[in-house]
This record gives sequence, C-alpha cells and structure tokens, in this order.
Amino acid sequence: MKKRFNVLVTRRLHTSALDELKRKCNVSLHIGKIPIPKKNLIDKIKNMDGLVCHPYDTIDKEVIKNSKNLKVISTFSVGFDHIDVNFAKSQGIKIGYTPEVLTNATAELTIGLILDVLRRISEGDRIIRNKKWNQIFGAYDYTGTEVSGKTIGIIGMGRIGREVARKANGLGMNIIYHNRKPISKRIENMLKAKYVSENMLYKNSDIISLHVPYNNDTHHLMNSKIFKKMKKTSFLINTSRGKIVNEKQLVNALMKKEIQGAGMDVYESEPVKRNSPLLKLENVVLAPHVGSSTNETRQKMSDITARNLILALEGKKLLYSV
Ligand code: DGY
Repeated sequence: MKKRFNVLVTRRLHTSALDELKRKCNVSLHIGKIPIPKKNLIDKIKNMDGLVCHPYDTIDKEVIKNSKNLKVISTFSVGFDHIDVNFAKSQGIKIGYTPEVLTNATAELTIGLILDVLRRISEGDRIIRNKKWNQIFGAYDYTGTEVSGKTIGIIGMGRIGREVARKANGLGMNIIYHNRKPISKRIENMLKAKYVSENMLYKNSDIISLHVPYNNDTHHLMNSKIFKKMKKTSFLINTSRGKIVNEKQLVNALMKKEIQGAGMDVYESEPVKRNSPLLKLENVVLAPHVGSSTNETRQKMSDITARNLILALEGKKLLYSV
C-alpha cells in the first residue's frame, strides 16, 4: 500500500486544490488565527512530510529544524523571501512556488496604482465621501497628471516587469528599464524598452516601478539618496516587496515634496500599522497587498501549490521549483 504523507496547510486553499491534497495526503489545515502563530507552526510541523505556506509565514531555520521528515515546502506565492531557502535546500527539502500565473494580475494592479495616484482617483473618492466636492469645483482645483507620454522606469525586467512594460505601451508611455543585465534586443524591441543605468533611470523617470525580488541586495534599494535623485514631479510604485523601500525615508521625501506621490501594495510591516504616517498622506495610494488577488489567479496559484507539493512527495519534478 502506498504511504499517505502528512501535510500541514497554513491557510485555506481553493476547494479543488485542498481536495486534491486530501486525496493523496493526510491534511492538517490550520484554521484559526492567520498567519499561523510561530509556536503552533513549530509544534504542528514536527511530523509533517510537506508544508503548504504563504508569504506571511516565516519559514526560518528554527521551523525547518523542528521537522524531521519534511521533504517539501510549497509556497502559495511567487516570492520566497519568507523561506530560508539555503538552509531548506541544505536539508534536502524541495521548494515549490507559483510564478507566471500571477504575472498579469500583478501587472494589472501596478497599472491600476499608476492611474490611481497620477489621476488622484482614491483621493477624489475620499473628497466625495467627506462631502467636500464643493471645495474642488474650480477647473484647476483638482488636476492630476496625464499618464500618456510619461516615462516609466522599470527596475527589474523579469516576467512582471515585462508585462508592466507591455501594458504601459498601450497607455502611450515611454519605457526605460534597469536589470542585472539587459534583456534580449528582440524583447527590448517588442516592448519598446530601453536599457539604462540605475542613475539614468532615477533621473529620467516620471514613474518608477519596482519589480525585483527582496533579498540582501535589494534591501532599502529605494532610500533618501535615491529620492533626491528622482524628479520632483515623479511617482514611486511598489508592488514587489515592502522592504525594498525605506518607508520612513519615503514618507520624508513625500512630505518634503522631493517626489510627488506613491502607489503601494506592499509595506515594511503588513498589515500597515495603525499609526503609520502613510495613512495621513493624500498623495499616496495604498492597496492591501493584493497584487495576485483575483479569483482567476488565486485559483491557479492554489492548484499549482497543491501540484508542486504532491509531485515533490511522489519524487517527481515540480511544476515550478525554487
Ligand atoms: C507573491 O506571490 O509573492 C505575492 O506577493 C502574493 O502574496
């Protein structure tokens, strides 16, 4: 008889994915406070063969060391900065993740934030709800910035960066980018994107959009030095990871009008703290980390997360492995 593997799932997945897991494994689904408290995670993972986790679960050495049987960590995300990948791999543990299927959803949200902050859509929504429309009735009382014709500087030209470029083309924007190395000329031409140095990008962009993973090299990549180099009329968009931006210095730059505005989906601390100064700034649009959060995408992410886990437990090649 085939062995049934024990699997811990830290948050509910789509029913179809959970059902698939249950057909093949003994599933222990954490329902209760999310993210799963570390104490519970450490306790529950002891006899598990597989773990399904989310970006808010920190899978560090302490957690991994506590599981003697763990063979696979399957994360419901494209990002894997919440997992100690090197340590997990040193223990022979496989890691699955869910790229590609969330590229479009994340790029859509990026464009949404650009349109929102430049055209002041959420700000206007607040004005109406606060019954202040009369105060902005004049033709020049409430002007935004036109998106068409502006230059977007994309930092990180991977899957999501490229999709943002493709969509930005449709909006009539000019595209410059910086990446560890230039992408192929063929794709550059297709995207009408021009490779520039980091400095050139900071100085020439009307909008800077971040699409790099979070790691030691990208920690606080955007900081006061960089904000000072950016155009005073420029905007920062972050749908990648919060810690890529020094949030305190961003707030400072926004208050001092060193840059004009920001659109954010990710933060140094999530959920955003109740007393965060960001909440007081009108020139910032805040989304609650929902880049991949569409019904279509989350269903696909669920299915891939389950498949990755099962494939690894069956000793087969994962659909997407880190
Ligand atoms: C990811 O997949 O990494 C996104 O941030 C969604 O959580």
